[in-house]
Amino acid sequence: MSKYNIAKATILIVDDNQNNLKVLCEAIADSGWEILVASDGESAIEQAEYACPDLILLDVMMPGIDGFDTCQRLKTNLITREIPIIFMTALSDIIDKVKGLSIGGVDYVTKPFHTEEVLARINVHLQLRFLNKQLEEQKNDLEKRVAARTRELSEALYELQQSQLHLIQSEKMSMLGQLVASVAHEINNPVGFITGNLSHLSDYIYKLINHLQIYQRNYTEPILEITQDAKKISLNDLIKEIPDIFSSMEAGIDRISNISSSLRNFSRSDTSTKVEFDIHQGIESTLIILKPRLKLNKRHLNIEVIKQYGNLPLVNCYPGQLNQVFMNLLSNAIDALEELIESGKHETNYAFLKIHIVTKVENDNYVSISISDNGLGMDAKVAERVFDQFFTTKPIGKGTGLGLSISRQIVEKHNGVISCVSNLGKGTEFTVKIPIH
Ligand SMILES: Nc1ncnc2c1ncn2[C@@H]1O[C@H](COP(=O)(O)OP(=O)(O)OP(=O)(O)O)[C@@H](O)[C@H]1O
Ligand SMILES: [Mg+2]
Repeated sequence: MSKYNIAKATILIVDDNQNNLKVLCEAIADSGWEILVASDGESAIEQAEYACPDLILLDVMMPGIDGFDTCQRLKTNLITREIPIIFMTALSDIIDKVKGLSIGGVDYVTKPFHTEEVLARINVHLQLRFLNKQLEEQKNDLEKRVAARTRELSEALYELQQSQLHLIQSEKMSMLGQLVASVAHEINNPVGFITGNLSHLSDYIYKLINHLQIYQRNYTEPILEITQDAKKISLNDLIKEIPDIFSSMEAGIDRISNISSSLRNFSRSDTSTKVEFDIHQGIESTLIILKPRLKLNKRHLNIEVIKQYGNLPLVNCYPGQLNQVFMNLLSNAIDALEELIESGKHETNYAFLKIHIVTKVENDNYVSISISDNGLGMDAKVAERVFDQFFTTKPIGKGTGLGLSISRQIVEKHNGVISCVSNLGKGTEFTVKIPIH
């Protein structure tokens, strides 16, 4: 059953004529409605505000403010404007009837009153009034439900985007990580093999040389074939060169095993807890992976990487993830320099393609890593959006617009900040600050 029950309605009757009031009250006394009365406009407004009746019966001619003014004031008042007003006019006064309807009255009854008619009209308007109220409530309820559902949906969408982002991120990193790890692993075995054998080989060769020298000392006049061959192969020079050859081979092998351990370092799978990590090692291993991209082969150009490393302590972090940030910043810088060349602008600057990496400790509790390039830079509109998910200015297939938004998430996960300063035509600088502890 509806909470709007016509039998329990409240009606305000406004008339300065006591006789009229009496007649009306008697006429509707049996209906069960609660009846309020007022004898002038001012007190009618006051009561309407206070009691919020469901309907007002309003006389036109009254001392003080008349029925029309009262109606207009009720209609401009937020509390009372929805209350239906039925005017009470003299039978002959057609002008009053029209005016009453035009300023917001819903109906009129004429004096002298016909009880049946008055009751019928009141009933109709109470019903309309209650239906309107119900409709209004249903509309509000519906609006609330739509708003709540919209909120739920947009939250779900946001979560979906986030998890999608994480999926892409972990997929991208685990693919790169796996590739790098397996390359490092493949390199490792042969390197170990060579390192192990190299020391034996040098040992054997020195023994052979020693043996040869014993011959030379004891057979001072060898046969012609031996002296000829010794001359042909420049035996003495050859023996002198051997230590150099070995040390350069050892250096080469050292370098390969360094690269291999850098690669393994880059791809180290993240533990669920943070570990102490050497940021420079992370940057170096990232640079090793990006090395092929620093040579812009098409134009025989190299990007020069200038490092200004400060004295950094170990940082408590997720190393694999920070490497990912360096990877994104450095690849963006390389992209920007490539674009500079493709654009044909700054033709004379070809020899000066540079990436600066500066690290330092700030306020004793932050490490700051800034990576800048002297590429095309960005205008303010682009710079504002670089950290937005899926924002990219690169052609389809080249950029997904995720690098920086992922990087920002990672940096924020470390309670750090990442910022960007860019000058159109001059270059761009990204700075990452990570708390040391
Ligand atoms: N060093 C930079 N110089 C100029 N513009 C840059 C630089 N770094 C980022 N941007 C701009 O910011 C955009 C967003 O970079 P972001 O790394 O998030 O995505 P992306 O490089 O386009 O794609 P990917 O997901 O493959 O990294 C780039 O498309 C580019 O317009
Ligand atoms: Mg990128």
